[in-house]
Amino acid sequence: MKLAVIGGGSTYTPELIDGFARLRDELSLTEISLVDPDARRLELIAGMARRMLARAGHPARVTATASVEEGAAGAAAVLLQLRVGGQAARDVDETLPLECGCVGQETTGAGGLAKALRTVPVVLDIAERIRAQAPDAWIVDFTNPVGIVTRALLEAGHRAIGLCNVAIGFQRRFAATLGVTPERISLGHVGLNHLTWERAVRLDGVDVLPRLLAEHGEEIADDVGLPVELIRHLGVVPSYYLRYFYEHDRVVQEQRAKPSRAAEVAAMETTLLEMYADPAVDTKPELLGKRGGAFYSEAAVALIASLLGDRGDTQVVNLRNDGTLPFLPDEAVIEVPARISAAGAAALPVEEVQPLFAGLISHVTAYETLALDAALHGGERRVADALLAHPLVGQASLSDDLARRLVEANRTHLPWA
Ligand code: G6P
Ligand code: MN
Repeated sequence: MKLAVIGGGSTYTPELIDGFARLRDELSLTEISLVDPDARRLELIAGMARRMLARAGHPARVTATASVEEGAAGAAAVLLQLRVGGQAARDVDETLPLECGCVGQETTGAGGLAKALRTVPVVLDIAERIRAQAPDAWIVDFTNPVGIVTRALLEAGHRAIGLCNVAIGFQRRFAATLGVTPERISLGHVGLNHLTWERAVRLDGVDVLPRLLAEHGEEIADDVGLPVELIRHLGVVPSYYLRYFYEHDRVVQEQRAKPSRAAEVAAMETTLLEMYADPAVDTKPELLGKRGGAFYSEAAVALIASLLGDRGDTQVVNLRNDGTLPFLPDEAVIEVPARISAAGAAALPVEEVQPLFAGLISHVTAYETLALDAALHGGERRVADALLAHPLVGQASLSDDLARRLVEANRTHLPWA
C-alpha cells in the first residue's frame, strides 16, 4: 500500500516513520511518498526516514517529490501535515493578537483564524490535485485548524477525515495512570477540534472518571493547566485548549512575558534538522518528544488501518455533524468518537450536552462557519465578522483592528489580499 505525506519535509515526519516502523503489522506499507516544496528539507527528511526504516527492517521504500500529483498517484491514503508560512507565520499568529489583549495561539482565537485564511485555499488546491490522481484515496487531515480545514474539504466533496492527538493523548495518559493497556480505555469525548471535554473515561465499559478526578485530580489539573477545583466542580476533563477560554486574561499575561511557542519550535527544528543530516542518526531523536505531537503516528496508523482494513473500531475523529449534536448545523465539523470502517467514519450517539459546554460549542461553531467563509471568499470585512463572532474577541472595534492587522501581516499568503 502506498501512502503519501503532504508536508513530508516537516521535522515531525520521523515521528510518523517511527510509528509506521513500530506498527508495521497494522499497516502493510510498500511505499511512503514524502511531498514537499522545500527540496533541502525533503532530502534531509527522506534520508532520515530511509535510515529509520532500514534499521527497523521495514520493507517500504521512501520516495521524495515536490509534485503532489506524483506523490498522490496510486496512493490509498494521503496525510496532510503541511504548514503554510512555516514557523514565521505561526509566530505572527501567536504574537500579533497579544498586542490587542487577545490570546496568541496558532489554532484558537485570532491566530487560528489567520492560520485558517492561509491554509484553506492551499489545502483545497492540493486536495483537487490528489483527487485527480487518486480519486478513492482517503485524505487524513492533521493540518490545523483541523475543524475548519476538514469542513472545507468535506464541503468540496473530498473523502476527508480530520485527526488530532488530544483524545489519544488522554486515552494513553489515563491508561498509564490506571496501569492498564490503552485499548481498555474509551472516552466520552465531545466538542470541536481543540475545544473538547472528556465527560466519561470508561475502563472496560465502566465510567471511572469520578474516581480519576477524586484520586488523581491534581495530576490531571496540572496536565491541562486548570485549577483542580474547577475540573472537580465541572466533573469533566477539559482539553488544555480550554485554558485559553477559562483563563484567557491570565494566559495573555503569561504569553506576554515569554518567547512564543513558534520561536521555541523554530529553535528545536534547527537542531532536529542538524540531527537528521547526520548519516549516523537512524532513530527518532528524543528532542522530538518536546513537540506537541505525541501519539500522532499511532492515531494516524490506527485511522488508516481501520479505513483500509474495514475494522469497524471506535476512534475519535473530526467529521460532519449530521445531527449528532442536534444544536449544531449538519455541516458543522465535530470531534467525537466514531466507528471507522471502509465506508468512512460514523459518529456514535452522544448523550445530551449540558448548556455549559453546548454554549461554547455553538458559539465557536458559528465562528468557524464565518472563518471558512472568509477563507474561501476573502475580504477584510469577512475576517472582521468571524472575529466578531468569536467568544474570545467579540467587540466591534477590536475585531476591525485585529482583522486589519492580520490581513496586513499575512498579505503574502492570502490570494485575495
Ligand atoms: C498538539 C495539537 C496539534 C498541534 C501541536 C502543536 O499536538 O493537537 O494540533 O499542532 O500540539 O505542537 P508544537 O510542538 O508545534 O507546539
Ligand atoms: Mn490537534
